[in-house]
Amino acid sequence: METRNTIIDIKKKKIEDKKIVALTAYDYPTANLVDEVGIDLVLVGDSLGMVVLGYETTLPVTMDEMIHHTKAVVRGCKKALIVADMPFLSYHADINEAIKNAGRFIKEAGAQAVKLEGGSERLEAIKAIIGTGIPVLGHLGLTPQSVHQIGGYKVQGKDKKIAEKIIKDARLLQKAGCFALVLECVPALLAKLISEELKIPTIGIGAGPQCDGQILVIHDLLGINKGHIPKFVKKYFEGYKLMLEAVKEYKKEVQGGLFPLKEHSFSMEEENLPRVY
Ligand code: KIV
Repeated sequence: METRNTIIDIKKKKIEDKKIVALTAYDYPTANLVDEVGIDLVLVGDSLGMVVLGYETTLPVTMDEMIHHTKAVVRGCKKALIVADMPFLSYHADINEAIKNAGRFIKEAGAQAVKLEGGSERLEAIKAIIGTGIPVLGHLGLTPQSVHQIGGYKVQGKDKKIAEKIIKDARLLQKAGCFALVLECVPALLAKLISEELKIPTIGIGAGPQCDGQILVIHDLLGINKGHIPKFVKKYFEGYKLMLEAVKEYKKEVQGGLFPLKEHSFSMEEENLPRVY
């Protein structure tokens, strides 16, 4: 039996100059899929609020929703390091609450690490969680839980002031003990500079090819949802289109009496059929 990746395996990849392959997953079947492929790190992202639960942003996602989905992913994926995303306001108001919420992902859901958005503003919570022995994946650049403050889902760090803040925050997160760092929607040059400087690996999403690894939202990669997908996504499959065709075909066949056929039905001896009048 293969053993599960640990944060040591993830960090070793940078030392060995091997790319980290990461993806999100939110349920048992997608967890099975990423497990079979051998994805290194699986994030149960709070993006599930948008791609699975139909919220407009990630802000309404609750701890209970995250725990529910994380449990399913842990059941379905046995080899990857499972990182659970801490939802909005689960680590902002109170350090003890942040520790307890991070602990729920480990104790109740079976994840091995948590992810928190933000740099200097969240340092105390990050340090406290790491202090309890829970590994933390940092997240800088476009942090969707701050969408209203940022003013939309925009690239972060094109200007010097924000670029400098991202660099400073990256150093702080490394010093605090984060085992890796997600860089979301930052210019490729900035991500390259940070990746070259840091000892911990960077995992990019919309952050160019020079990060130490890449992550995508699995629904984007598979084209499962309709509507807008960001510029940085490469769609590897037309999931929505193909599933739509299948569901249409099913409807047509049921209406036309073409499904189910004999091979989809169960037989019995006719003499066992009770006579009803
Ligand atoms: O919630 C999420 O899926 C994420 C990734 C985009 C990194 O934070």
